[in-house]
Amino acid sequence: MKLSVVGLGYVGLIQAAGMAKLGYEVIGTDIDKEKVDNINNRVPPIYEKGLKELLDEIVPRKLTATQDLKKAIKESEVTFICVGTPSKRQGEMSLHQLENVLKQISTVLDKYHVFVIKSTVVPGTCENVVIKTMENAGKRYKVDFSVVMNPEFLREGEAIEDFFAPDRVVLGSSDEKALSIVKMLYSEFKCPFVESGFKEAEMIKYASNAFLATKISFINEIGNISKIYGIDANVVAKGMGLDKRINPHFLRSGIGFGGSCFPKDVSALVYKATELGYNPRLMRSVLDVNRDQPLKLIELLDRSAGPIKGKKIGLLGLTFKSGTDDIRESPALLTIKELLMEEAKLCIYDPKAMDKVQKIFPHLTYEKTGQDVIKNSEVVLILTEWPQFRELDFGNKLVIDGKNLFYDGKRPKNYMGICW
Ligand code: UGA
Repeated sequence: MKLSVVGLGYVGLIQAAGMAKLGYEVIGTDIDKEKVDNINNRVPPIYEKGLKELLDEIVPRKLTATQDLKKAIKESEVTFICVGTPSKRQGEMSLHQLENVLKQISTVLDKYHVFVIKSTVVPGTCENVVIKTMENAGKRYKVDFSVVMNPEFLREGEAIEDFFAPDRVVLGSSDEKALSIVKMLYSEFKCPFVESGFKEAEMIKYASNAFLATKISFINEIGNISKIYGIDANVVAKGMGLDKRINPHFLRSGIGFGGSCFPKDVSALVYKATELGYNPRLMRSVLDVNRDQPLKLIELLDRSAGPIKGKKIGLLGLTFKSGTDDIRESPALLTIKELLMEEAKLCIYDPKAMDKVQKIFPHLTYEKTGQDVIKNSEVVLILTEWPQFRELDFGNKLVIDGKNLFYDGKRPKNYMGICW
């Protein structure tokens, strides 16, 4: 069976490469020419562990990329739709890319085709937007086309591993035939399969991300209280996490969650719930705690090494977490903005995201190594938990850690943690 993937971003590219590695012939399509060329030349357009090796193995034998969306649809029987659903100003999800793609696709359908929605979409979207758009173009649901909601649960940095060893596969549809086709595509996966209606599958994605975000804001709040008491929140997290009902994952306190998913998805859920007449108090608080968390680091800096004005501050790490070059919603960017408002002098290093940040903040000092950051600053802030930062020689410099870098290792001599 020939597959296509629309949108070759963080999700789509892994989906395309993963399905190709499983043995399917895959055509990936994207509007971005540079991205398409890179993939065809086996150059990963993003930094993701194992991706280069995977592309070397499957391109062009099993995976090719093209800008020609219509050709990709015509040549395939099942299409994974992986376009972005970014936040609008008030947190509302934007369906612009999805609608645009669906309209183009509807003009070329000439035989039964299954669309698998991997984009994160609020409950009701598959029925009210995906199926409706196709029907408005004269195509018959379950006859000319079908739809399955199949949310993704890939962590950036571990995405390939997550693709091949999922905890579960969620498939939502009202069409048994389409469900069985997609189930067959994933037949190598030995994990539980959850079959449901569209809305349940759409909601499972939001509920999963909202729960994980809640866990982080929860431990950050416990961490903020612990810090006032002089308690090490890491020890508290360890003691809590051993309870099977709680589990140890996502209990790392720090400067809060970032990335393209948690902030966007929780905001979209809040927006949608409010629109439906429900006040999502818990989710609002999750976002509130998260919004303020980077400021806790700056407060600690001010208290322990203030005044900030004119101080040479070194920043280690810019991405929203290690293992990725992604800076979307990174707490590091908010920290930079705040410190600039307080007129600090900043020097910076990140192993993967310097170019991207330089485009946003062209006038900062970008160092060649993490060691140079330490050398040229009075205080060092850790904003991403890149493991290589553990090997640096911090000497007697004051180090304020916002990311729990030394969670399970030896801490520098003059060290403070945001919640520990
Ligand atoms: C997240 C989910 O983990 C994936 O399951 C989901 O598929 C993805 O969003 C998505 O919706 O596409 P990701 O954003 O790549 O994946 O990153 P995570 O590893 O979940 O981390 C998110 C943020 O939480 C990072 O800023 C991380 O540093 C922070 N975090 C994570 C903490 O502050 N503490 C923790 O204990 C764990």
